[in-house]
Amino acid sequence: MKIITIIGARPQIIKAAAISRAIKNKFSKEIKEVIVHTGQHYDANMSAVFFEELEIPKPDYNLNVGSGKHGEQTAKMLSGIEEIIENEKPQALLVYGDTNSTIAGSLAAAKIGVPVVHIEAGLRSYNKSMPEELNRISCDHMSTLLFSPTEQGVSNLQKEGFQLGNEGPYSIDNPKVYHCGDIMFDNSTYFAEKANTDSEGLKEVDFNTPYILTTIHRNANTDDPIALNNIFKAITYLAKEKSETIILPLHPRTKKMMDQLLTEELQTKLKDLPNVKIIDPVSFLEMIALEKNAKLILTDSGGVQKEAYFFKKPSLILRPETEWVEIVAQGAAILCDADYDRIVAAYEHFIQLDNIEFPHIFGDGMAAEFICNEIITHIK
Ligand code: UD1
Ligand code: UDP
Repeated sequence: MKIITIIGARPQIIKAAAISRAIKNKFSKEIKEVIVHTGQHYDANMSAVFFEELEIPKPDYNLNVGSGKHGEQTAKMLSGIEEIIENEKPQALLVYGDTNSTIAGSLAAAKIGVPVVHIEAGLRSYNKSMPEELNRISCDHMSTLLFSPTEQGVSNLQKEGFQLGNEGPYSIDNPKVYHCGDIMFDNSTYFAEKANTDSEGLKEVDFNTPYILTTIHRNANTDDPIALNNIFKAITYLAKEKSETIILPLHPRTKKMMDQLLTEELQTKLKDLPNVKIIDPVSFLEMIALEKNAKLILTDSGGVQKEAYFFKKPSLILRPETEWVEIVAQGAAILCDADYDRIVAAYEHFIQLDNIEFPHIFGDGMAAEFICNEIITHIK
């Protein structure tokens, strides 16, 4: 069977490593994967680095769509993917997560009758001002095989009319939903052994000094001057008044917006604080090394808040809500939004706590194999 896998944004490239590895190790006779990179992310440290390091096969196609407004970017992908589907005639198309590459892939396939496999199905923030929420809801409702990493994801889908373990034969009008665990838990477990601290991209990091790892890239934070300034006010407070070292691998979107939106006072403060280390985006193995050794993690990233949990680190989530509700319910993360007082209060809370529990709730590290097995069972 031939499946087309759509990737484009950094987290999808990383996720693809788990499925590609499972296919290579166990399912190469049954599944031929054609990888299509939309080109949504294109800087070497947002894309190429992951292929080399995570042994992901080189994409068979790259649409090179680059950056742009939502409609413009998605439309270019849609048209490019449709053409590839027509040429390749796959039995299914596989998408990850909730980005513009996800919605473009699922829409292109579903409209011409190609079954869509959605990995990371069912996640909901219940905040439709997020572009990702619109992408994931639409994608789920166009999919025929839905793989949810969490029980909450399955229950969200049930509320929208999907059935878990339904009896009828699989078809476009009778999609199948599975709770399979998180392929990023597969990946983090697998790559944790390979990650080390003496890598080139980490040369500015002193692993003997405790640090708070930080990532910021959500449009609600980067494009709103109040939110962005609040977050950096909190970061400079922690660095200056609490003498915390902050390590911030900076997303290109945030870099651009910091120049435009941060007050001059904050820009100067950041330059004058040697313990705020802003570095280029790092590779996944480098990121794992940073996560494993951090004392706390401050992030608005979906992937990073979960990896914090995998590596038993408390996290301060720079969002008003999260799709990964389990980690907040567990007491391992606190929602702070872009609110200075809430960030500082959550920091004070976690800094005094040393008995947080991180029970296994993201599967057994074999989600990719489970998914491949179900694909083989259903898609002919
Ligand atoms: C996208 C996803 C988001 C995901 C994130 C992962 C959508 C709507 N958003 O957000 O869900 O969490 O990827 O990182 O799909 N840029 C570069 N170089 C690059 C890539 C981007 O400079 O290689 C800059 C450009 O200025 C671009 C901006 O970052 O306009 C935003 O990129 P885009 O892919 O549109 O959205 P992200 O914020 O990265
Ligand atoms: N990541 C990385 N290098 C970085 C920052 C993040 O490899 O400099 C990884 C991170 O470990 C996680 C994924 O990228 O696996 C998360 O991507 P991102 O935060 O861009 O998007 P989100 O998960 O929020 O969609």
